[in-house]
Amino acid sequence: MKLRSMRLALGTVAATLVLAACEPPPVTTVQRGYRGTGMVEVYHPASVEAELSKNQPPQITPTASPDGPKAGAIYQNVKVLGDLSVGQFAGLMVDMTNWVAPEQGCTYCHVGANFADDSLYTKQVARRMVQMTQHINSDWKGHVQNTGVTCYTCHRGNNVPTNVWYKSTYREDAPGMLGNKAGQNSPASQVGYASLPNDPFTTYLQGGEEIRVIATTALPDGPNPSIKQAEATYGFMMHMSQALGVNCTYCHNSRSFAAWESSTPQRAIAYYGIRMARELNNDYLISLAGVFPQNRLGPTGDVPKLNCATCHQGAYKPLYGADILHGYPGLAGPAAPPTRVLEPVPASPQAITTSQADPSPARASAAMSLQAAAAPR
Ligand code: HEC
Ligand code: HEC
Ligand code: HEC
Ligand code: HEC
Repeated sequence: MKLRSMRLALGTVAATLVLAACEPPPVTTVQRGYRGTGMVEVYHPASVEAELSKNQPPQITPTASPDGPKAGAIYQNVKVLGDLSVGQFAGLMVDMTNWVAPEQGCTYCHVGANFADDSLYTKQVARRMVQMTQHINSDWKGHVQNTGVTCYTCHRGNNVPTNVWYKSTYREDAPGMLGNKAGQNSPASQVGYASLPNDPFTTYLQGGEEIRVIATTALPDGPNPSIKQAEATYGFMMHMSQALGVNCTYCHNSRSFAAWESSTPQRAIAYYGIRMARELNNDYLISLAGVFPQNRLGPTGDVPKLNCATCHQGAYKPLYGADILHGYPGLAGPAAPPTRVLEPVPASPQAITTSQADPSPARASAAMSLQAAAAPR
């Protein structure tokens, strides 16, 4: 009898601890699809409040005149920002300093007063970063629209963005007697502390493996997705949901996670986001390997890379869609951006856009109040 009551007491303590990790009520829900389909976003007002204050855009600097001599003609070693007027160029240098190295100042990238010198690795990286930002804003409009990105989107005043990833050490483990557990059962925040493979990024945001779980034929017939692929897919989906601060149903109708016809337009946008992040890692960041000092490299010697959270940082649109790009012509990219022709996703996303274009009043008003709260002041 005594033992029983002790067990009961222990059980109560354990239950209290488990519940303490949950968000206390109230929660609000926003309907995002047709009634009865379970397409609902669950929000916790206190968390939304906290996220809103963390994701405010920086003050927009008044734009300098595009007239006058060009930076390329005045300075000695300008390779990517030469088309800006000297005023615009100087303004951008000040902004870049505030966004990336507010504590160190100009000397984070420049050696003393010799601004043309390229010997600091930070300046070489920053030049690549300018090119990457221009490329995102001009060639990936299908994802970033006119919101675009500036250095601030990812850096937020930090030298290295808060959300970067490295190749996990498990990939180097020699599979001995215990085998290689492929990063499973080693809880990591990026996969929501689930027992899923903790490095879906090397697989999907560097490598280009198929993100598939569901077989397309009833009987094993050819190369159907493996269990390993399924686990990595779920790990990656946990990251995407967390990075955007949304539930799975922001993109999927859980009746079928695979079916594009019943998915939301956001899933198609995410599809391009995956391709964009993969391309940025491979074309812009990985090739910086020789430039970075040892202390910036990961445990297996690779450079820090980006994922959805690097830009999104918990918001469904970075900085809740604030238009901070406007007014930074140096970062917008070429004057007439060659808009990338995007390959269609498996089933036409256009069809999805029109058939699901009916936002329920509840959804529209909730979205509007979120947007209003997030609007730049
Ligand atoms: C985050 C790195 C970074 C910071 C901080 C930075 N710059 Fe620069 N700066 C660059 C890069 C990259 C270039 C080369 C741009 C190009 O190639 O188009 C450059 C070029 C210049 C040039 C042109 C030099 C020449 O003759 O070629 C001047 C002048 C300059 N910066 C001034 C400043 C000033 C003043 C500050 C501080 C307010 C500053 N920069 C802060 C990265 C930085
Ligand atoms: C899409 C996200 C993103 C944007 C936009 C971005 N960066 Fe970065 N930046 C990164 C990541 C990720 C790293 C980590 C290292 C890397 O380059 O692989 C980094 C590293 C750097 C570093 C090296 C810092 C160090 O201490 O090692 C500098 C300098 C830098 N960025 C400058 C800039 C500037 C200037 C801009 C705007 C023109 C910019 N970045 C825009 C993601 C971004
Ligand atoms: C931001 C949008 C988004 C969110 C949120 C999201 N997914 Fe996905 N999901 C996608 C996209 C896009 C693909 C297809 C990727 C591709 O084909 O490259 C996908 C694919 C999948 C697949 C594979 C379907 C198949 O064809 O076999 C499963 C299963 C899945 N997601 C489950 C989930 C789960 C579970 C969650 C919540 C933890 C989730 N997703 C959250 C966008 C999303
Ligand atoms: C280079 C920065 C950057 C990266 C990396 C990035 N995004 Fe985005 N994403 C944006 C911007 C900016 C927008 C806002 C576009 C707009 O105004 O509609 C956006 C919008 C979206 C939207 C539309 C949200 C809505 O409600 O309309 C989805 C979904 C999305 N991103 C998913 C992803 C996923 C998933 C990843 C990772 C695979 C990712 N993004 C990586 C910058 C980025």
